[in-house]
Parts: sequence; structure tokens; C-alpha cells
Amino acid sequence: MLVSCSNLCFNAQTKLNSSDFLRDNKYGCSMKITIYGAGYVGLVTGACLAEIGNDVMIVEINQDRLATLKQSEVPIYEPGLENLFKRNLAAGRLQFTDDAKQGVGHGLLQFIAVGTPPAADGSADLRYVFTVAETIGQYINDYRVIINKSTVSVGTADRVAAIVKQGLAQRQVNIDFDVVSNPEFLKEGAAIDDFMHPDRIIIGAQSEKALQLMQALYAPLNSQGDRLFAMGVRSAELTKYAANALLATKISFMNEIASIAERVGADIESVRQGIGSDPRIGPHFIYPGCGYGGSCFPKDVRALLNTGREFDYEAQILDAVENVNNRQKRVLFDKLHHYYASDLRHKVFAVWGLAFKPNTDDVREASSRVLMESLWQQGARVQAYDPVAMNEIAHIYGQRDDLVLCESAEQALEGADALVIVTEWPQFRAPDFAVIKKQLKAAVIFDGRNLFEPKQLSELGFEYYGIGRGQNRFASNRFGTSRLLNKAKQGEGVTQ
Ligand SMILES: NC(=O)c1ccc[n+]([C@@H]2O[C@H](COP(=O)([O-])OP(=O)(O)OC[C@H]3O[C@@H](n4cnc5c(N)ncnc54)[C@H](O)[C@@H]3O)[C@@H](O)[C@H]2O)c1
Repeated sequence: MLVSCSNLCFNAQTKLNSSDFLRDNKYGCSMKITIYGAGYVGLVTGACLAEIGNDVMIVEINQDRLATLKQSEVPIYEPGLENLFKRNLAAGRLQFTDDAKQGVGHGLLQFIAVGTPPAADGSADLRYVFTVAETIGQYINDYRVIINKSTVSVGTADRVAAIVKQGLAQRQVNIDFDVVSNPEFLKEGAAIDDFMHPDRIIIGAQSEKALQLMQALYAPLNSQGDRLFAMGVRSAELTKYAANALLATKISFMNEIASIAERVGADIESVRQGIGSDPRIGPHFIYPGCGYGGSCFPKDVRALLNTGREFDYEAQILDAVENVNNRQKRVLFDKLHHYYASDLRHKVFAVWGLAFKPNTDDVREASSRVLMESLWQQGARVQAYDPVAMNEIAHIYGQRDDLVLCESAEQALEGADALVIVTEWPQFRAPDFAVIKKQLKAAVIFDGRNLFEPKQLSELGFEYYGIGRGQNRFASNRFGTSRLLNKAKQGEGVTQ
């Protein structure tokens, strides 16, 4: 349903001031919006909502981040964000503050987009969400819609409402408000496009008034009227977790099959194409690799597992998804360890790709970190290159002798014992193999993302180890052969 401004004001029968709707623009009505948190989600949401004509204030408590924003700089790497950000700053539709009182006063819509990192027990740590709720309860003076955009456990909207109510009770005032769940589905690296052209807008609302306001806000992004799904609050909260858990399941499933393929001498890439042609399975998200990372899948799978346990339910599939992924994040290290006969001391590895996926500088729970930390424990050294994530890695690990952050992919190769590919950045897909061969001490590539064809690499004179590409992990190592070699050689696709 497309809701116009006048209909909205009439139908909702609210006592909203006309200043809540600043002006009619080409899309319809324009709203005052406050967003708490200037991270990936808060900044993208803020810039995109400003772009469609809204008046957005972002509240950020991290002073370094706020200072960067106030200097008109974007503190994260997200393609397309800088342009959007600067254009809307210049147009006066985007502003930043650390003054939460001002934030509560500003927006009819109050978006909570703060982090929900994993707590020690795997549950979502909701303390930042609850702090924002307390702040709103402290300063709210007029009707507000409080919107959970952060990924939060089922039942969080009720807890946010209880916290705001408690604040009102302490102040002995009675002010109307609604809490809505509107989880975010953007993908880092493609976040602007995802937000502006959503495949779904999930709204969990109990009140018709809040739902109508949300419909009006999103109307410009829902011009066909088929993208917005209104549902109960708990269903909306669970939808976000279910989506991420299913995507993580697809990845872990393919990694499981890749491990079997490796052992039986099958090629997972052939298997992937073979199953992906079935429309019930589909070609998307069935790429094997060295495990999923990032700020969402790992923590969201764990949080959903935890939610199940809180409600006396053991989510066995999710448990397996998590375990397979933890094992898969070690798969490159295991291959190196095996190849070098368990002696990695003084070995040097060129690592291409540090971000948890291409087109982002996010290294939260990245597979590169598991690999590097395991290598360092064994006395190996790393020469790493990533197009945008090196600052993040430098920030986490600081100066250390066993890590060199290189200026180019080629530089990382210099004198290394092998190349290890961890992130599938586009620029790694068509390298100059002659240069790789020349720079490395030995022509050996361990590829955690299956960027190349084993046969072609073999013809170019490389020892090439992908994920699930028919090599048997027990088949050979540099220093000898082992029991399964003959068996594996009878299978297809044995490249070494
Ligand atoms: N990053 C993604 O790709 C993605 C996608 C969908 C959903 N999510 C979810 O969105 C939420 C935010 O994720 P993110 O990646 O943007 O997090 P982030 O860590 O990049 O950013 C969170 C920001 O909130 C700020 N903050 C914390 N407490 C605050 C407060 N009281 N007031 C104002 N600001 C405060 C922090 O300083 C930080 O800058 C999480 O729940 C996440 O699971 C993330």
C-alpha cells in the first residue's frame, strides 16, 4: 500500500505536528529521522534516507568516529557511500551529534542502529540497544516511533518498550510511543544498492499508526508496492535471524560437501554447477571457501542457537553450521601444515585478502585472522595485502615482526614460500602468473576461494590447492606420499 502524506496524517489520527513532515518532495512526504550509531548500517541508512529527501540526524558516541564525520569524511569503506554522504551533507539533510537529547528531540522516527556484538555465551549483547532505549525514555517529550534496525534477539522490542516506559514512570510523565522492528538486510560492499532497491522491507509493528508511518517512510523504495512485508514484531525479529542462518547454512553445507569431494577425488566446482541448475537449489550462495566471517553470520547463528536454548530447544542444524564453519576457517592452515610436514617455523606466506569478503574493509571474524594467528603460533611469517582492509588489520594487531603489510599484491609475494588467497577481491582473479612465479620462492598456491582452474595452474607449473577440488588432503605432501594417494588417483580431478 502506498501511503500519501495527507492520507497518513488523516488515517493515523495522530497529533503529529506538521513540522514532522518537512515538505512534499518528489517522493511524497519528508520526515525527521534520528539514527543512533554511525556504523555500516547507521551511516548507510542515514545517507540513503537523506538521499530520498528526509532530514536525518545521526547520533554517535565514538568521539573519533564523530570527529571524522564532522570533517565530512566517511569512517568506513563502502562503495558509493562517500558520494551520497557528501551530497546530502551539502544539501543540509544529514547532520551528526553526540548529544542524545538533541537526537531524541529531532526525529519522529528514532532508528536504533548500534552494534549487537556476541556476548561470551553466544547471545546478542544488547547493552548498546538498551542504553539508547534508556536515553529515549529520559528525553522523550512527544510521540516517537522507536525502530530496532540492529539485529536483536526475539523479544527485544518488548524489552525496549519496557525500558522506555520505566524512564517515563521515573519522570512521572505519560507520553505515547511505539516500538517497531525493522531489521536491516544490506550486504556490506553492495549496501547502498541493497538499501535503495530492497528485495524486502520487513516491518514488525503492533500499532497501525507506527505501521503507517513506516509505510510512508519506505514508500519511495517500494514503488511497485510489493517489497514491504508487515508482520508481528517477534516474527520480524526472527525473520532477520532466519535469513542469515539459512545463508550461513548454505555455505557450511557446501563446505561440508567440498571436504567430502576432496577426500573422494571429486571436483566441488563441477558438483556446484550440477546442483545449482536445479531451481529448487539455485546457483546463489553455494560457493565453497575458507569459511564465512563478518559482523553478521557468525554472531547471528550463535545468537539464534542461544535463543533456541533459552526456550529449551536445541537447534541442531545451527550447531552443525557453526561447527563446520569453525573447522573450515582452519582449512587453509591445515593444508599448509600438512604440506610443510607440520613444520612452519620461519616459513613466509603471502596472504592476499584480509577483509571477510570483497568490497569492504570489515575484518570482524574474518578467516584471514584465523589463518594468520595460527601461522604465527607455529612461527611462520605473513606478508599480507588487501586493497582496503589493511588499516583495520594494523589497528587490531599493531606492529609485529611476523606481519608485513605490503603496498601491493606483487610486493606481498617477494620471497614468500607460497601464496595463500583468502578473500576473492576482483583484482586477484586475473593475476600475472609469470610475476607470481618469479616473486615466490616456490610456485605453490593455496586458494581459499577457488579462483583458478587446477588444470590451468598445473600447466603453468604451479602446485595449486583449492577447496574441494579433487586433491586428497592425505594424498601427498612435499616430503612424501601417504596411504590414500593411490586411491585418490583413481578418482577424477587429482591435480597433483
Ligand atoms: N554490518 C552489516 O553488514 C549489517 C547488516 C545488517 C544488519 N547489521 C546489524 O546492524 C547493527 C549495527 O551493525 P554495524 O555493522 O553498523 O555496527 P558498527 O559496529 O559498525 O556500528 C555501531 C555504531 O554504534 C555506535 N554506538 C554504540 N552505542 C551508541 C549509542 N548509545 N549512541 C549512539 N551510537 C552508539 C558505535 O560507536 C558504532 O559506531 C548490528 O546489530 C548488526 O548485526 C549489520
